[in-house]
Amino acid sequence: MQIRPFTSFDTETVIALWHTVGLTRPWNDPAKDIERKSTTQPELFLVAVDADGALVGTAMVGYDGHRGWVHYLAVSPVQQGSGLGRELMAEAERLLIGLGCPKINLMVRTGNDQVIGFYEALGYGTDEVALLSKRLIPDA
Ligand SMILES: CC(C)(COP(=O)(O)OP(=O)(O)OC[C@H]1O[C@@H](n2cnc3c(N)ncnc32)[C@H](O)[C@@H]1OP(=O)(O)O)[C@@H](O)C(=O)NCCC(=O)NCCS
Repeated sequence: MQIRPFTSFDTETVIALWHTVGLTRPWNDPAKDIERKSTTQPELFLVAVDADGALVGTAMVGYDGHRGWVHYLAVSPVQQGSGLGRELMAEAERLLIGLGCPKINLMVRTGNDQVIGFYEALGYGTDEVALLSKRLIPDA
């Protein structure tokens, strides 16, 4: 398994993976998310590729100067449970630590509660905070 930065050739496969594992939503255009990431710390957008060259995982990582963030963590269904999610998160943490990032955050959508056990296995805890957000640029 190789973890490397995303390239534009990966776009369609990445979007298909996100659809397959249920990470897409009608109000977020994944192609636009990828386009935006290509101008903002693109080296932190990771893909995992297996020995046959198949793209089987993603993690979109960023650092805002105070916290690191991970979005779109995905492992293809056939690969789930074999340690790739842990590997992707370890690489995200390694890159963030290299940038001097002191803290990592991520969001789990309501209804995807089963994934919390995965993050807990990696040492993550749930913070008692309210998450507020505001859409600045509509995708649709
Ligand atoms: C979440 C996801 C990335 C995990 O990837 P994965 O490759 O299946 O996970 P791993 O095999 O690396 O699991 C790592 C550890 O977490 C544990 N784990 C995984 N899911 C778990 C769960 N639901 N509850 C408790 N522990 C869990 C594993 O047992 C493993 O522990 P171990 O290393 O001690 O054996 C993958 O399931 C996925 O793509 N899900 C769909 C998309 C998604 O929901 N992404 C997260 C958005 S917030």
